[in-house]
Amino acid sequence: MGERGIARMGNRILVIVPTYNEAENIASIAARLRTSVPDADLLIADDNSPDGTGAIADELAEQNRDGRVHVLHRAGKDGLGAAYLAGFQWGLERGYDVLVEMDADGSHRPEELPRLLDALDEGADLVLGSRWVPGGRVVNWPKSREVLSRGGSLYARIMLRLPVRDVTGGYRAFRTRTLLGLGLDEVESQGYCFQVDLARRAVRRGFKVTEVPITFVEREHGVSKMSRSIVFEALWRVTVWGLRPAR
Ligand code: GDD
Ligand code: MN
Repeated sequence: MGERGIARMGNRILVIVPTYNEAENIASIAARLRTSVPDADLLIADDNSPDGTGAIADELAEQNRDGRVHVLHRAGKDGLGAAYLAGFQWGLERGYDVLVEMDADGSHRPEELPRLLDALDEGADLVLGSRWVPGGRVVNWPKSREVLSRGGSLYARIMLRLPVRDVTGGYRAFRTRTLLGLGLDEVESQGYCFQVDLARRAVRRGFKVTEVPITFVEREHGVSKMSRSIVFEALWRVTVWGLRPAR
């Protein structure tokens, strides 16, 4: 419904998928997205993955006859935040109306994207796919990872006084004007705390942030890029943001 609604309103949608070593996943996620929301364009933002994800992405773009698959090749692994910032810039320069964040590994099901877009149609400025609202859930995560994610969200929620349940999630839909209002120039977060940073900026600036329940399915192929240093960056940044006066 949202897909049709957004399309009917003449809006152009860009789904940005950052990749680092997702060779086993990228073709499948691209195909599922094309089926689920055929009107959306896809931008794969690859950090020169050693496993050849970038070359596979180029093939996908070539095979896609309607020119809806694009690839942004970046020099090397520079973090999720930097990849998204580059992807946003690419999309903003090309006049898209809606920009979507989605993981490459299947955790963010393309089949659920129409529901996120529905929420934009219904007036949200930013839609968060949420694991921690009623109806949201996680499939196949080890308990340790769930504890880390729930704990991280809770800490950020309290420190930053955010009325959001899933602060760290990475399945999101932004209106262009929301992104333009977030002060992306000043964003320094490199790793996964990038998501917390954008959520807090959106709330601070008075945008309407809506959470939509999602089913997050843990990847079957490849490995998570979550690391100790990513957790540490998130912890110190959230703490600093929380202790510093709001901006
Ligand atoms: N280009 C690029 N550069 N892509 C990256 C990088 C990077 O440095 N690091 C990770 N990615 C890509 C992965 O290839 C994948 O498509 C996506 O970002 C998410 O990475 P995962 O490694 O699969 O993340 P996760 O499953 O551990 O974490 C998930 O939950 C977190 C919150 O708990 C993700 O949805 C995160 O975005 C989220 O913050
Ligand atoms: Mn993942």
